[in-house]
Amino acid sequence: MTEIELLNHLRANPFVLAPMAGITDRPFRSFMREMGCGAVISELVSSTGLKFSSEKTKKLMEYEEIQHPVGIQLFGENLDHLREAAQIVEQWGADFVDINFGCPVPKVVNKGAGSACLKDLNRLRDVIRAVKSGVGIPVTIKIRTGWDQNTRNSPDVTQVAFDEGVTWVAIHGRTRAQSYSGLADWDYIREVKTQSRVPVLGNGDIHTAEQALQRLAESDCDGVMIGRGCLKNPWIFAQARALRAGEPATLNSAMLPVLRRLQMYLEDYYPERIMLIQMRKFAMWYSAGFPEASQFRKSLFQAGDRAATLALIEGYFSDLETVSQIDTSAEAFLMGGHG
Ligand SMILES: Cc1cc2nc3c(=O)[nH]c(=O)nc-3n(C[C@H](O)[C@H](O)[C@H](O)COP(=O)(O)O)c2cc1C
Repeated sequence: MTEIELLNHLRANPFVLAPMAGITDRPFRSFMREMGCGAVISELVSSTGLKFSSEKTKKLMEYEEIQHPVGIQLFGENLDHLREAAQIVEQWGADFVDINFGCPVPKVVNKGAGSACLKDLNRLRDVIRAVKSGVGIPVTIKIRTGWDQNTRNSPDVTQVAFDEGVTWVAIHGRTRAQSYSGLADWDYIREVKTQSRVPVLGNGDIHTAEQALQRLAESDCDGVMIGRGCLKNPWIFAQARALRAGEPATLNSAMLPVLRRLQMYLEDYYPERIMLIQMRKFAMWYSAGFPEASQFRKSLFQAGDRAATLALIEGYFSDLETVSQIDTSAEAFLMGGHG
């Protein structure tokens, strides 16, 4: 896919699925595309792992046709490995390479990868150059607002990105020091967007379709990325698109058919044991804000085999067709991740 094609796609659907390790695997990316999100991105993939052809690493990159445009997110500190990994991503047929400059996790940062590059813009430039030198497909980056509050530098980062021919910069509106505490700073994202010569995607704490629209409009960003918000509300992307088109956001329809669809994607990819672990996880998240959710979650933990687990899920959600989900966005939820 060319840069123009990718940006046209973003204009048509600016609600991009945020990369999430352990979550945005092949089944979930396909499922979310079917549920209306825009571009999708894999979880972070080690460029060194890819170069040495680890099967586990390759598995993270698997995608299906429905996912286009699909990006593979790379991280790493070795410039040769980054370049070669980007080449593999392109040969693999992905539409773009995304570089992770947001990961706050010590194991990644201590080697000089992820958000550590925000402290050294020459290094950040070298990483972008290495990846760009390997491929013809677009290269995007995902950053945090800075290393810490005193060194926020997204305008400088977007300038480097522009100079190096990056297609978009996605900004998670927290510093590395904040990790997942506090709130994403959308005023800062807006300020960065105003000055940026490269397209900007804003990211952080979008829990509803209405918020997605509001953030998009107020920040003037070219798109928004939604991560945790779609783990409680699988319709968030479709609702945001409806609102953008001036239509009412369709009310939440039944969860059960949606979960069955997700199961279909999971079953196609994972052995039964992992499929069941994933189904339990998503059923727990999707139960947020519904009556008796904590009791349901406890029972799910105790459910043994496939039949018992799936029956429990069917039983719980089939009773909820006319019940609406209460907003639980003020509760702490998944306060850690790789970006
Ligand atoms: C469980 C989890 C895993 C994550 N993994 C990644 C990752 O692999 N790469 C990345 O760039 N960001 C990762 N992130 C960060 C998200 O992409 C996003 O920036 C962050 O969650 C804020 O957006 P949200 O409030 O919409 O979730 C992860 C976040 C979570 C919660």
